Amino acid sequence: AASDPSLVARALAAKQALGERVFVLGHHYQRDEVIQFADVTGDSFKLARDAAARPDAEFIVFCGVHFMAESADILTGPEQQVILPDLAAGCSMADMARLPQVEAAWRALGEAGVQDLVVPVTYMNSSADIKAFCGRNGGVVCTSSNAEVALEWAFAQHGPDTKVIFFPDQHLGRNTAVLQMGYSLDDCVLWNPHLPGGGLTADQLRAAKVILWKGHCSVHGRFTPEVVDELRATIPGVQVLVHPECRHDVVLKADLVGSTEFIIKTIEAAPAGSSWAIGTELNLVQRLAKAHPDKQITFLDKDVCYCSTMNRIDLPHLVWALESLVDGAVVNRIEVDPETERDALVALTRMLDLPG
Ligand code: 13P
Ligand code: SF4
Repeated sequence: AASDPSLVARALAAKQALGERVFVLGHHYQRDEVIQFADVTGDSFKLARDAAARPDAEFIVFCGVHFMAESADILTGPEQQVILPDLAAGCSMADMARLPQVEAAWRALGEAGVQDLVVPVTYMNSSADIKAFCGRNGGVVCTSSNAEVALEWAFAQHGPDTKVIFFPDQHLGRNTAVLQMGYSLDDCVLWNPHLPGGGLTADQLRAAKVILWKGHCSVHGRFTPEVVDELRATIPGVQVLVHPECRHDVVLKADLVGSTEFIIKTIEAAPAGSSWAIGTELNLVQRLAKAHPDKQITFLDKDVCYCSTMNRIDLPHLVWALESLVDGAVVNRIEVDPETERDALVALTRMLDLPG
């Protein structure tokens, strides 16, 4: 739907009034009505780097979800204020790993006698306190753009016996370890935070190379291998391009897998007339289809829809946040406490320092 013209005018006026004082970041899954006001767009990794690109900006308005705004706060200067236009824009995957649960898993690894060999790796899609846990315990953050390099770094920490515990997305962890790094499915075990001992025995923890947290993305987790088969049967020559948050059996059937930034670059480089079925969030797929009318772009599954929390950031909330700043009021500030920030910054900096 087209944006409300009066809200568009108000957003433009507020941005103009704030000038260089405000820097607006937009994740690729944001609505068109919001993304048009972003000074930069990107996937989680690019936005983490870009957040620090304007140290002169007093206000960082983050059009994305809560964990991204927290990371932006950690990576920007103490005087800079990060604003999330709707505080209800969380992430169901990030909510699947809570610090007390992670600490219980860590204790179980201690009881199994292997904690010293384990490197904790957390996906960017996690709360700041989980990132801080990784920072304190020799671990690292990764995103879907650099999961392989981050896991390679992790596996090099304690020699050949190193193990990794990966939060909170089992699919990104499994897809990276098995499809990109050559580990087997038998090298992986699934830690269920809702079961005592994660549902695993000490022997299983000792035998595992990769301990995957039982979390998933409620959007990407809904694509199925059956829809890939159906599309291949109906669209001759279609190439299937999916995000690594998709299930392992979906990724196995895809032609290409990568982060949102990779998906965009792949479509931009694709020849005219080529056919693509894309398994990621719908706002992005619709935008790609609109921007590339010379290519046939299909959404992998018509039953899967937008990320409801990403979509909470809409034009009315953005206008409210910007106009409040014009009036001198900072609304919806995201501020990570200093201790968490210090430890999370260790894990985020390790990520930003990874090669590549
Ligand atoms: P990327 O931005 O790393 O592609 O991750 C997608 C996502 O689900 C963000 O919430
Ligand atoms: Fe979280 Fe999935 Fe939405 Fe990304 S797309 S914010 S991982 S629920």
